[in-house]
Amino acid sequence: MSAAPRVSPAPPAKRAVVTLSTLAEKKALGEPVVMVTAYDYPSAQVAEAAGVDVVLVGDSGAMTVLGYPSTVPVSVEEMLMLAGAARRGLSTPMLVGDLPFGSYEVSNEQAIATAQRFVKEAGCDAVKLERGGTSVERARAIVGAGIPVMGHIGLTPQTATSLGGYRSQGRTADRALEVIDDAIALEEAGCFAIVFEAIPGEVTDAVMPRLEVPVIGIGAGPATDGQVLVFHDLLGIFDGHAARFVKRYGNLREAMVEGVSAFAEEVRDRSYPAPEHGYQMAPDESERLREILARRDV
Ligand code: KIV
Repeated sequence: MSAAPRVSPAPPAKRAVVTLSTLAEKKALGEPVVMVTAYDYPSAQVAEAAGVDVVLVGDSGAMTVLGYPSTVPVSVEEMLMLAGAARRGLSTPMLVGDLPFGSYEVSNEQAIATAQRFVKEAGCDAVKLERGGTSVERARAIVGAGIPVMGHIGLTPQTATSLGGYRSQGRTADRALEVIDDAIALEEAGCFAIVFEAIPGEVTDAVMPRLEVPVIGIGAGPATDGQVLVFHDLLGIFDGHAARFVKRYGNLREAMVEGVSAFAEEVRDRSYPAPEHGYQMAPDESERLREILARRDV
């Protein structure tokens, strides 16, 4: 029996760039939208290779990569640096930059100016802002200035203190109605998508039939049009408290600690570097060097 001819694996299909129409089309077809956060070049490259639809440079990066105790202290400049690095690692997913606390609430002018920086300086395709209320006007103004906006309601970490802490929102009928009204107002303001964070599934179920734009959930049940998780949470890189909605798909922190510990051990017992990790001179050049040095005074 002759051996089967060897066939080279087919090159991976080239993905189309994800646009606002792609997301609207996914919603119409009932295809889930996949969003992850990324904060630098390698995490963006991972998101690209994994074929996600949307990459969010979330202000969660304040905690996961910058080590702040909350998302509140992160500055526009810091966010722009993270977003610019993520941009360089991406070619197909849509890139959304999170407007940090204090960078859009004061006036529509402030909101537009900050959003423009995310597009011009970091190459973002869209921006995200938190809350309903006065943020609805800010969203309308940014959309009016030609920049796509993603809304974010429910648990909004930038204003967690006024929400009573990092807790799920909309658990009473009155609060659920506020959350529902915020979602509808953000859609009416022109948001192309809305993140629902930490709200009961019943609230999501009640509002979904009233919304035409894609809803991306994080702790909002299975009825949303897509799901988002924080990169460091889903891969097990972040060592802090994880919310109930986090599912770990990896334990990279343990693997990283193991790798660095193994390196430290081999440096200390001198088993690293081995000969194959070094560089050698050609034997005649090595001999010539020895002779020259032997003839020198010092
Ligand atoms: O900052 C962030 O990572 C977010 C997501 C949780 C949606 O806002």
